[in-house]
Amino acid sequence: MGLQPVFRQFLHADSGAFAYLLADAATGDAVLVDPVLGDVPLYHRAMRENRLRLDRVVETHLHDDHVSGAWVLHVGTGAPIAAGSRSGIEVAQRLLEDGEIVDFGGESLQAIGTPGHTPGCMSYLWRDRVFTGDTMLIGGCGSAEPPGGNPGRLFDSLTRRLLTLPDETLVCPGHATGRRRVSCIGEERVLNPCLAGKSRDEFIATARAAPRIAPAARDIHLTVNARGGDPEGAHAAGQTREAAWADYH
Ligand SMILES: [Fe+2]
Repeated sequence: MGLQPVFRQFLHADSGAFAYLLADAATGDAVLVDPVLGDVPLYHRAMRENRLRLDRVVETHLHDDHVSGAWVLHVGTGAPIAAGSRSGIEVAQRLLEDGEIVDFGGESLQAIGTPGHTPGCMSYLWRDRVFTGDTMLIGGCGSAEPPGGNPGRLFDSLTRRLLTLPDETLVCPGHATGRRRVSCIGEERVLNPCLAGKSRDEFIATARAAPRIAPAARDIHLTVNARGGDPEGAHAAGQTREAAWADYH
């Protein structure tokens, strides 16, 4: 029997963002999905402990609520950054279209275009699970309120691209909504209050009526994360250099 692949989920306490470490245990090739700058030391430790080499950093979308660790990981390891072609992540070396495959060792992720929360959102299917970013959350979904968001497209992505996966597919979201860390497609189809029994029009009306609450420092996050969370970009966007690097050190 082959070695089981490595799978680790990290919860960034300050923002509630989830990041994921996946690896082919046989070759040691690893991928980080949606790394957060402040947790980069944790990822390095996990990779060291498991004797992994970072092969790729993958982003589900341009985050507006925390600083990405993609750039720092790229600079530190040489691993290229992959993201959706419409994500606005300018430093990505590989721009993905719907259906493209990201290989690492003998493993592969499949990109699924799921726009709506942002125009460039990608979900990624890997083995028995899907990384949904902020498109599908456990018992919820991301808002369509960020720049370029579109509730109709979000509904279409949720219902046509994610809920069409097999029921047993595990849902690994990009953001915590409660204490639970994983769900499955079958459960979300039946129990997710954003979706169950909702028509497209009802979904759009609910999204439009929701209070518009932008995350703190959204503009800085968007500017910095277009550069993969490059702390020098945070500095350029108005933070002091010390504050820009504080999360990382
Ligand atoms: Fe988001």
